[in-house]
Amino acid sequence: METVILKDDQISTAANFLADGQLVAFPTETVYGLGADATRPDIVKNVYAAKGRPSDNPLIVHVDGPDMVWQYADNKYQDIAGKLMKQFWPGPLTIIMPIQPGKLSPEVTGGLKTAAFRMPNNRATLDLIKTFGKPIVGPSANTSGKPSPTEAKHVYHDLKGKIAAILDDGPTVIGVESTVIDLSVDVPTILRPGMITESQLTEVLGEVRSDHHKVTQEEIPKAPGMKYKHYAPNAQVVIIDNVDDFTNAINEYSKETKNIGILATDSVLKTIPDNLEKFSLGDDVISASKHLFAGLRELDNDKVEFILAQGFPQEGSGEAYGNRLNKSAGQKHFKI
Ligand code: TXA
Ligand code: MG
Repeated sequence: METVILKDDQISTAANFLADGQLVAFPTETVYGLGADATRPDIVKNVYAAKGRPSDNPLIVHVDGPDMVWQYADNKYQDIAGKLMKQFWPGPLTIIMPIQPGKLSPEVTGGLKTAAFRMPNNRATLDLIKTFGKPIVGPSANTSGKPSPTEAKHVYHDLKGKIAAILDDGPTVIGVESTVIDLSVDVPTILRPGMITESQLTEVLGEVRSDHHKVTQEEIPKAPGMKYKHYAPNAQVVIIDNVDDFTNAINEYSKETKNIGILATDSVLKTIPDNLEKFSLGDDVISASKHLFAGLRELDNDKVEFILAQGFPQEGSGEAYGNRLNKSAGQKHFKI
């Protein structure tokens, strides 16, 4: 299959592919998604196949607004979910709620009685859903286990020949996936941290819990996707929590190999020897979040054996970055 690249003036072509039962990757403000008709189980199956994703891992249902959600979700949740939608949609917040029985297939929900809904903040994709007229499922458009795609070329690298088209809207703005909040439990619970922070959610909902801090191999996390190996390049990622340790870490790993890549902010990169591969995270944790996945992919292309990556305090808007970096590093932090 040839994978075509579409621009934002080709929305109707993209919608026709979806109507024809094809897969179309779409841009969002967080990462690129892998789109398919959410109402057709036979087509949704192809999404798992293209990604190589375990089929017990439910998908996010992307909508063009709240009205589309209430065709599927339990209307008892209109009050509480409505507050979140009003405050944060379109935007990087995914809301999990019980669904009306039989309204979405087990291929979408992973067999759960709940589903995840999200209205992305991207004009081209909102137009696409509106033109198509139905919700589209969309996991991140990467090969399962690899860093999520923040540019069309990442999607092309992973999925060329397996999907019909990629709607290219340039690099994504946020770079890490949406915050996932579960409203189906007694106290609303954050299953995956993102740019919408716990304190922002607490302000709207009152009480909020977090269920993503410590995940061991034995535990089954509430968001099935959180138990799999994630965001992992081929190189071993090592987190440098204190920027003063970069020199020590480089000395240490240089004993093993010359092929070391550095993923850090500009002020750190200035101090790094020129013989090492470098990728800039910009100047703070927000720009670092935006560039993290591209950096992991780029340094992997350079065939480095170790990626020494800058850590940031894991609080507020730094939580999402820390969560993704920890997973890509298999929790490996540099210690002297
Ligand atoms: O920013 C994003 O959310 C991106 C863009 C494309 O929208 N999408 C994304 O999808 O990251 P995905 O499939 O890679 O991650 C969805 C997460 C998974 O961890 C999945 O297990 C969880 O949401 N999830 C989906 N439905 C769920 C449900 N009913 N109950 C619990 N967790 C659910
Ligand atoms: Mg993903």
